[in-house]
Amino acid sequence: MCGIIGYVGISNASEQILEGLRRIEYRGYDSSGLALMTAPGNIYLCKTKGGIDSLAPKINPDIRAKMGIGHTRWATHGVPSARNAHPHSSNEFTIVHNGIVENYEQIKQLLEEEGFHDFKSETDTEILVWLLERNFLKSANIRSALVDTLKDITGTFGIAFMHKSTPNVLYVARRSSPVVIAEVDGGHFIASDISALPKDTKRVTYLDDDQFAVVTANSLSIYDLNHDIVDHKTEGLKVSSEEVGKNGSEHFMLKEILEQPQTVAETLRGRIDLANDSSVLGGLNLSADEASRLRELVAVGCGTAHYSSVLASYLLEDIVNLPLRAEVASEFLYRKQSFSKDELMGIAVSQSGETADTIAAINKLGLMGVSTYGIVNAVGSNIARITDGGTYLRCGPEIAVASTKAFTSQVVAQILLGMRLGMLRGEKPARNRAVIKQLQELPSEIEKTIEMTHQIVADKAKQISKFDNVMYLGRGSLYPVALEGALKFKEVSYIPAEAHPAGEMKHGPLALIDKKMLVVYLLREGDLFEKSLSNLIEIDARGGQTLVLTDSARLASKRDGVILLPKSGSVNSPLLFNLPLQLLAYYVAKEKKLSIDKPRNLAKSVTVE
Ligand code: M6R
Repeated sequence: MCGIIGYVGISNASEQILEGLRRIEYRGYDSSGLALMTAPGNIYLCKTKGGIDSLAPKINPDIRAKMGIGHTRWATHGVPSARNAHPHSSNEFTIVHNGIVENYEQIKQLLEEEGFHDFKSETDTEILVWLLERNFLKSANIRSALVDTLKDITGTFGIAFMHKSTPNVLYVARRSSPVVIAEVDGGHFIASDISALPKDTKRVTYLDDDQFAVVTANSLSIYDLNHDIVDHKTEGLKVSSEEVGKNGSEHFMLKEILEQPQTVAETLRGRIDLANDSSVLGGLNLSADEASRLRELVAVGCGTAHYSSVLASYLLEDIVNLPLRAEVASEFLYRKQSFSKDELMGIAVSQSGETADTIAAINKLGLMGVSTYGIVNAVGSNIARITDGGTYLRCGPEIAVASTKAFTSQVVAQILLGMRLGMLRGEKPARNRAVIKQLQELPSEIEKTIEMTHQIVADKAKQISKFDNVMYLGRGSLYPVALEGALKFKEVSYIPAEAHPAGEMKHGPLALIDKKMLVVYLLREGDLFEKSLSNLIEIDARGGQTLVLTDSARLASKRDGVILLPKSGSVNSPLLFNLPLQLLAYYVAKEKKLSIDKPRNLAKSVTVE
């Protein structure tokens, strides 16, 4: 959603914050700002509509400060504008906020009744800073004012603020939105995300919900809402600068597509159990008895993470005798459950581990007493912390808003989980050995597929960018790939794209076929080949414009404009088909000269429901 950063230390805070903001701009980029404490009582504020490239030239280069806070915004309350950009100030405090204050209307009313009227923006954050001011005027104690404020507000937040008469002390707090505090040479950073942290980060500390921290250049104290000091755990940061850089690619999206051979290998590393034709998952805390009682797996997620579960639901049918139900988190929240708590296992699938709908859905299952599991990429994220067990994807930071490498690893992680559960339940699916063999070959097959298709897709982008609409079609496990392909395409190219099971064409979508609609048709040799071919011929018969992706050399030799993929097994094959679709989305957006890594109106992690 939004990105927050703060710095206190011996270096130039303006530079430190600006660099940090550039690193987390992917979290929100409709407006940005920073505040620097230049002297006790003096706060320099600079805010603008637009991202960091708009902000940087506006900052006075002569300003010197040892402490400051910065923000990059994805608008919730109030349009993107300099006025609504953070930081927001009251008389005493200046604050940045990631999240949402749900009861801000009531608080605003209370403030107005008490004579606070000086609101300059339409944001919930400004209400928050005035509430802090109001509580401070009562206690004249910053920590008490903060605790009172945290008790008064409902919603999710990671906040960082400065008090104008308290130099070189940063205050941070969180509830459901992540906050990390990092030790660097000569100071501390606070941030909403580890990718904001500089290369020289030595150790990091994650705040827990309803904790706050008082941070100076050389000290860190963490408190709970009873004002008691909390023992905190610091850990090393295991992300290298190459992992957060573009590594020679023009955009993060391309870099992240191309690194999938390595990221999948990381997801699999040490997790294959050859002796038992199964997997090893240290984070699965379920006994054989508990696993045997299960009757259904419910995977909750949003967007790409959800589609990874839809695909996993097809693939697990042959791996474990336990259906996986893929649920859109925001819908699942309002549905009734047919199984009792012991019969269900909840799986939250999320790259960021921060997605509010997914958190709410997994919390719902947790409250029912269901065992919960997180399949998450971001280490230390909310979902990783609130679930009973889990598997990290180990993909490294995914910066482009369009999720690519996480999808592939999310599917792989769900397969590993299915295999492990099968073993715990005493099942011995004969296919598991073949599945393991496929997974072991997946990194090299991904490499080969990218090699075979990359240039061909790039060459087709110009022509494809001219279409007004695109329809993605596939059958069986290629249907979820069609869904994911269409999502990727529309979010970065802004061309409307929809997906259907190919067999559904004649039940309605066929009416859309005309010269302005491109049909991207996914066709694999195997059980459904002949049926799929008939569906393709129905489109041909109506003069449809098609781009066929297939592993059938026979079909490729007979038809023009086909993209040929390598043949693979039933588990790997849908993941391979997805790769040229990721590239297609990327190159069409590039052809249209769009903001590929930061598409309009979107943000990397969606921390509001
Ligand atoms: O961080 P998450 O995996 O929970 O995010 C879920 C979706 O918001 C995300 O996949 C979104 O759909 C992407 N922009 C798709 O590329």
